[in-house]
Amino acid sequence: MSVLLAPSILSADFAYLAEAVAAAERGGADLIHVDVMDGHFVPNITIGPPVVKSLKRIAKVPLDVHLMIMDPDKYIGPFAEAGASMISVHVEVLPHLHRTIHAIKALGVKAGVVLNPSTPVVAISEVAADVDYVLVMSVNPGFGGQTFIPRSESKVADVRALLEKAGNIAAPVEVDGGIDIHTVTRIVKAGARMLVAGHAIFGSGDPERATRDLKLAAIAALQD
Ligand code: DX5
Ligand code: ZN
Repeated sequence: MSVLLAPSILSADFAYLAEAVAAAERGGADLIHVDVMDGHFVPNITIGPPVVKSLKRIAKVPLDVHLMIMDPDKYIGPFAEAGASMISVHVEVLPHLHRTIHAIKALGVKAGVVLNPSTPVVAISEVAADVDYVLVMSVNPGFGGQTFIPRSESKVADVRALLEKAGNIAAPVEVDGGIDIHTVTRIVKAGARMLVAGHAIFGSGDPERATRDLKLAAIAALQD
């Protein structure tokens, strides 16, 4: 399994999203990470299906949609229709997580489950065999540019072990929050194979170069 880099457009200039996506793609982005926030589950409000639909028109790589919303079941259909290739949902808001995962898959979209920093890994043990990927939050969701929580490292390793135990070897662990050139090595070594990065890429003066540098560092971490 190689490492996939998913630049998060949350830190891009929303007036120039097409340029942001193109720069990340030139730098080697494997996915584009889209952060959907509702002002309830998290304090911030961002974007909805119409923006995903527009992004789908211009993006060459798949759209990785991260739903930070209170009632994801209501919006899975619209985001799938808008062009999401992957949809991840927070376990903290879903009493019927198994049903939600299979509803996402039934739409032909990859289904991911997300754990907040304070949510224990055991919360997903019963669905570990069902998911296409697991997203470990390495910051509290809501904003870009926050500091990586070091405890996330052992959590990634624990999620990896859970997926192996469940026989779900193909499902990668994704990490989101505070990933930059300094934190990338240890998180890849812990077992992360999909990396979200917002501020490190779009907060830099040169997103194309930042994408390339981060991806090279991730691949190097995999090899030594
Ligand atoms: C945080 C979002 C992240 C965010 C990561 O709530 O889920 O995807 O964009 O941004 P950085 O890389 O700046 O921590
Ligand atoms: Zn995210």
